Amino acid sequence: MKDLLIKNLASLATNRGKGPQGGKSMGEILEITHPWVLVRDGKILRIGGEELEKEAVDAEIIDGEGKTLLPGFVDPHTHLVFGGTREEEFSMRLRGESYMAIMEKGGGIKYTVKKTREKSFEELLESGKKTLKSMAEMGITTVEAKSGYGLDKETELKQLRVAKALQKEGPLEVVSTFMGAHDIPLEYKGRDRAFLDYLAEEVLPVVKEEGLAEFGDIFTEKNVFTVEDSRAYLLRMREAGLKLKIHADEINDLGGASLAAELGLTSADHLLKANDEGLRKMKESGVIPVLLPLTAFSLKEDFARARDMIDMGLPVAMGTDFNPGSCYSFSVPLMISLGALYMGMSPEEALTAVTLNSAAALDRADRIGSIEEGKDADLVLIDAPSYRFLTYHFGMNLVTTTIKKGKIIYNKR
Ligand code: NIG
Ligand code: FE
Repeated sequence: MKDLLIKNLASLATNRGKGPQGGKSMGEILEITHPWVLVRDGKILRIGGEELEKEAVDAEIIDGEGKTLLPGFVDPHTHLVFGGTREEEFSMRLRGESYMAIMEKGGGIKYTVKKTREKSFEELLESGKKTLKSMAEMGITTVEAKSGYGLDKETELKQLRVAKALQKEGPLEVVSTFMGAHDIPLEYKGRDRAFLDYLAEEVLPVVKEEGLAEFGDIFTEKNVFTVEDSRAYLLRMREAGLKLKIHADEINDLGGASLAAELGLTSADHLLKANDEGLRKMKESGVIPVLLPLTAFSLKEDFARARDMIDMGLPVAMGTDFNPGSCYSFSVPLMISLGALYMGMSPEEALTAVTLNSAAALDRADRIGSIEEGKDADLVLIDAPSYRFLTYHFGMNLVTTTIKKGKIIYNKR
């Protein structure tokens, strides 16, 4: 593999460390003006100046003039693999119907489950590839992908196998999460526990055997899974060797944040309605809050309290939650804008939330999420003189080049 030399940059900005940064450290961004960066064997070899030209061997050159280099964006929460779309439902919501009311009438997730069951492996793979290509254009270099639109053995495994194939094929890194407990399928109506038993006894062993998922997740919500059932099921997933996440306190405050803390999960996601006690406990036990402002925006719900969380010392991460229902978008620029303008994050904190802390939410902060010698060369070039333009030039996609493990995977023409 050729070296990669990024010359003459206007600036470089990154948080630093091998773990999540909470509280004040979220705002501690290292900014270097006019740096050069040398990449070798997919890793960041050196950050320096023009002397790197001599060190580079037969290098591919990127001219960074007028541009800023950032760590590749990490999206720690998506429902990447699914069949069909739900534009009708979106119109219903614009007319005032609520997300949960639509779900209770058999729309929502259940509709996508029907469509996903109908799709073949190849069809799902094709649409997944298309999504990943557009994600690379947004500067995303690593993305999490949940199952949960199958709700039966065959389809859950199909979704997970698609995610695995997408990871294998690259160039993006795809982190797979088993989320069979996303809803209760019609076949198990009123028998939530029996459904969780089915997942744990029939599906989980195959997930484990084939190495189909690194994380497990559950939708803990009124009319979906109770806290009590979630606790028991999360422990079963842990026993099977999965690291854990939870969809917590999204529509109602059920105490999902406290449960996440009690079990020491890797992350608790959404948290729109999470209470202070739960958040404090999360801080104590090191659970990462993954906030999903595009979903709150799309559902017209109040945003999660990022400012309060950071002031409490929590390491806030942000993800897109891309899915066909509550959030049919993976706009990183809009996500960052919402984080800054409506959730009280500084430009520095927003940058940390979409890079190092989101890498930590995927248990990868030791390898990605910041620009440091020895870390993977997962990088994004933006057409702006500083990282401050991410929030200032709001809603614009400034990305001109995306690099994964030292390989250019997107270049704006
Ligand atoms: O994270 N909250 C549950 N799951 C998804 C939405 C899934 C859907 O509407 O299809 C979410 O928002
Ligand atoms: Fe989600």
